[in-house]
Amino acid sequence: MLPRLLRDPVNALAEFGRQARGEVMRIHLGPFRPYLVSHPDHVQHVLRGNWTNYVRDGMFWRPLQRVTGNSIVGDGPGWESSRRILQPLFTARYVGSLARGMVEAFEEYLEELTPRARDGRPVNIGEELARMADRAVIHVLFGGAIPLKDAELLAPAFATAASSFTFRLFMPFIPYSVPVPGDRAFARAVKEIDSVVVPLVRQALRDPGEGRHIVSALARARGPQGDGSGERQMRDDLVSIYGVAAETTATALTWLWPLLHAHPDVTARLYDEVDEVVGTDPVDPEQLPRLRYMKAVLQELVRLYPSGWMFPRMVVAPDEIGGTRVEAGSQVLISPYVTHRLDEFWDRPLDFDPERFTQEPRERRHRYAYFPFGGGPHVCLGLHLFYVQAPLLLACLLRRFRPVLLNPGPYTAVPAGSVRPKERVEVRLLPRGTT
Ligand code: HEM
Repeated sequence: MLPRLLRDPVNALAEFGRQARGEVMRIHLGPFRPYLVSHPDHVQHVLRGNWTNYVRDGMFWRPLQRVTGNSIVGDGPGWESSRRILQPLFTARYVGSLARGMVEAFEEYLEELTPRARDGRPVNIGEELARMADRAVIHVLFGGAIPLKDAELLAPAFATAASSFTFRLFMPFIPYSVPVPGDRAFARAVKEIDSVVVPLVRQALRDPGEGRHIVSALARARGPQGDGSGERQMRDDLVSIYGVAAETTATALTWLWPLLHAHPDVTARLYDEVDEVVGTDPVDPEQLPRLRYMKAVLQELVRLYPSGWMFPRMVVAPDEIGGTRVEAGSQVLISPYVTHRLDEFWDRPLDFDPERFTQEPRERRHRYAYFPFGGGPHVCLGLHLFYVQAPLLLACLLRRFRPVLLNPGPYTAVPAGSVRPKERVEVRLLPRGTT
């Protein structure tokens, strides 16, 4: 198993799941022997039914905590108090109220991109999407409170932190007192992130103002006991949210272009909808509910390429999952990427077919046959944000351009923070109306 996992971890795991036909499977990797749990009933048991017995701890989560601290992406009382305070700021209604600012951020970015696109040069769409998603997330989190030059420091610092802890992620048994490659770059990156975020938190706590962006709202927010987030918790939550929000959205959208290239019928229908609903004028967030086919395309996109492709849990007390006994202290791997590819629960699971999500009433399926955003009490906090941010971003892009893929692939899925294509996805951005 190890050579296959090392060669192509994402697809090897999916293949193991398909071979096990949804049964719990133990993966033997020397001293590390996690269970792969993919049947929807079993996923439900881990994420919801008996969720307190399956915690975010152990080898995968510990290296992460060195940047995210004790936060919303952790577990236990720290996570609980963050979730209580953050939840009201990520509802569909609250996020909707930030949509206009996101559109402005996208339009501003696309203005800058237009001269580069006009001369027909290839564009690395993954990079451009990352920058666009980054601007939207910065707007949601900090509004105008962050100077542009500071905002621009954050993305590269996060990229360095994410890439420099890979060694620790795969060698979790080496104690932190022993330096390993990447440690110094990691420490420098965390320091840089803090040099931007901590002063913003302090300023917001001194004077929260009336802003709707998260740092201001968090500084005013109070939990049921009348308690607010302190400086440390605010820093940890903002850094965690920033770390997951832009990356997950951008990597998911990067996979869209090879899929559209291979499915001209889907592309034509999507473009027709944008033409009809948005036209050539700037996007109005009020148009979102009418971009129905785009929503189905996004739902199908995150079925095939769920950014959070695998998230493990540590077993607290011995338990049984679907008749298999799991030992305390062992790791359970939950992967929407694997479950979404099981023949037992999906018709033609490897085909890209947004029709699965357009039918009324929706295809009947197990709640946990489809869980790109997780489930249970840890369900993705950014679910509504994704379904506002991603369609707005696409609508802004497609009202101006028709991206034409330059290399049809195939593209290989590699596990970084989220599942991304190993190869650069390059497109030419043809101004709309010239195709
Ligand atoms: C394509 C986009 C996204 C996907 C596929 C995705 C997926 C997920 C998944 C699978 C989980 C559950 C992890 C677990 O159970 O351990 C999760 C949790 C989370 N996501 Fe997302 N996410 C996306 C976008 C976002 C965005 C835009 C935000 C910004 C707020 C965000 C913030 C979070 C947070 C804070 C958690 C932890 C929630 C908790 O434990 O209470 N995500 N996400």
